Amino acid sequence: MCGIVGYAGHRQAVGVVLEGLGRLEYRGYDSAGVAVVDRGQLKSRKRAGKLLNLVEALERGGPLAGRVGVGHTRWATHGAPTDPNAHPHVDCTGQLAVVHNGIIENFATLRAEALASGHELSSETDTEVVAHLLESEMAAMAGVDGPARPGALAEAMRRVCRRLQGAFTLVAVDGRDPGAVVGARRNSPLVIGRGQGENFLASDVAAFIAYTPHALELGQDQVAEVRADQVRVTDFDGSPAQVREYLVDWDISAAEKAGYQYFMSKEIAEQPRAIADTLLGRVGPGGKLVLDEMRLPEDELREVDKIIIAACGTAYHAGMIAKYAIEHWCRIPCEVELASEFRYRDPILTRTTLVIAISQSGETMDTLMAVRHARDQKSRVLAICNVNGSSIPRESDAVLYTRAGPEVAVASTKAFLTQLVGCYLVALYLAQLQGTKFGDEVGSVIDQLMRMPAAVDRVLDSMDQVRELARELAGERCVLFLGRHVGYPVALEGALKLKELAYMQAEGFAAGELKHGPIALVEAGLPVVVVVPSPEGRAVLHDKIVSNIQEVRARGARVIVVAEEGDTRVRPYADTLIEVPQVPTLLQPLVTAVPLQVFACALASAKGLDVDQPRNLAKSVTVE
Ligand code: G6P
Repeated sequence: MCGIVGYAGHRQAVGVVLEGLGRLEYRGYDSAGVAVVDRGQLKSRKRAGKLLNLVEALERGGPLAGRVGVGHTRWATHGAPTDPNAHPHVDCTGQLAVVHNGIIENFATLRAEALASGHELSSETDTEVVAHLLESEMAAMAGVDGPARPGALAEAMRRVCRRLQGAFTLVAVDGRDPGAVVGARRNSPLVIGRGQGENFLASDVAAFIAYTPHALELGQDQVAEVRADQVRVTDFDGSPAQVREYLVDWDISAAEKAGYQYFMSKEIAEQPRAIADTLLGRVGPGGKLVLDEMRLPEDELREVDKIIIAACGTAYHAGMIAKYAIEHWCRIPCEVELASEFRYRDPILTRTTLVIAISQSGETMDTLMAVRHARDQKSRVLAICNVNGSSIPRESDAVLYTRAGPEVAVASTKAFLTQLVGCYLVALYLAQLQGTKFGDEVGSVIDQLMRMPAAVDRVLDSMDQVRELARELAGERCVLFLGRHVGYPVALEGALKLKELAYMQAEGFAAGELKHGPIALVEAGLPVVVVVPSPEGRAVLHDKIVSNIQEVRARGARVIVVAEEGDTRVRPYADTLIEVPQVPTLLQPLVTAVPLQVFACALASAKGLDVDQPRNLAKSVTVE
């Protein structure tokens, strides 16, 4: 949800900023812009549409020289994706430029105030008002101290931030304080990259990892003044602040396509390794799960009597699957809640409720707000998250990181499978702590989990048939997905992927629910994808889904079956049969989700759509 890059150093800023924006485009691609400061002069360019439009405009208009700069790639909230609404926004003097991620909730009042005091605003955004507030503060300080001095922009930023409500990351440059790029954050991500003779600010480390692996976590309500040779961090009131420094443990190759046509296809292919990495070193002495950060005594976990999982999008589907495992293994009642609904329904939360927040980015505002609400109510929160040091894990009591590596494609794939692995591990941990499973039983599930990378590898080896099917179905208007038990959330996820990527009407249903309404959608030739449970697991589940298949076949549907190898009973009813390896029932989503990911990716590709950056979406949604 909007990507931001700031740079101060010895290189030409525009090159560094554009490269960083390229890596952050997953956060939004409605418009892009840059501003640089060169010998006290500000220059900026911005264009609606993808980053390429900006690059072309810069090529036509000549290079922007300068060693300090900012850039922005936008996911529109206030105002349509047009050139005037693109960031950076400049003040009346044309010397100051600001970029923003988030929403400034009191912008209407501030805007009215700025207009009344004579500022001229030319966009519909909430961001532009910040440029004018900064301008007023710079002018007020100049009035007192004479011309701007080093540090003036950071001080102006602190003063302005104290007046803002809402969620924001702001980064600004000013020709009157030429060596500095200044960033601030509240409820929205910003990291500092510390290089040699150069420093960076960015929404995500991917923007600067090509230059330095040294990162600093900017905390809540902090301002960073970044110069080529210095980083100063303070609170909004100006007191010096402590920041945690860490080393990013992946390199630039992990954030590049490495010969694949799309990031999504690369990330699908990386799933076996991602699962293996997430499992690595998790089992400590006595078979206990090793979490990454634990600020929660085991005694409290032993007392947990209710679990609520809060998440959005694909992570919500992972939570739905986790419920089956948690209730089966731990015998603890588990609810799964859309994070955006969670706090508004006044959920019953006590000290013995454990809230599990699942999020790839760790920045999804709906999920972050759910975490805060749970902690306000004194419940404990455990995060399952992919991005190290992001807001959700930082605000939780315990963290298990999924080690999927950077996920760039907007549609989540490897993050989803590793979220499942994270959920299984947490469920096993609780089962062991609460004594609902013996150590050897836990050990045997862990052994089965260890075999999953190989199982996913086998699925990936047989995907040509799925790609061909996707090409064949590219002209269809609608596809249904059915499943039972853990196959039901997989059906929902398959449908979500197809909606996101191919803009098709794609609906997922619990197969048993079909007869209560959705069956009216079935007509001759309608493709229906059915995720079939293992016949070796609960036979009754298998029998029921075979009946559901017959119900749709009787009405002319074209049935595409995802079933276990050797499932001879379903074969006669499949127009297309996609086979996956035999695995335990609860772990089956790890193999059945994969063909559905490949299907959506190939179908969108066949339609000539942008697989990695589908329309209207953003990977990290930092507004509610
Ligand atoms: C966005 C993305 C989805 C993602 C969801 C939750 O809507 O487009 O792919 O599943 O956010 O993101 P999170 O980072 O919290 O897992």
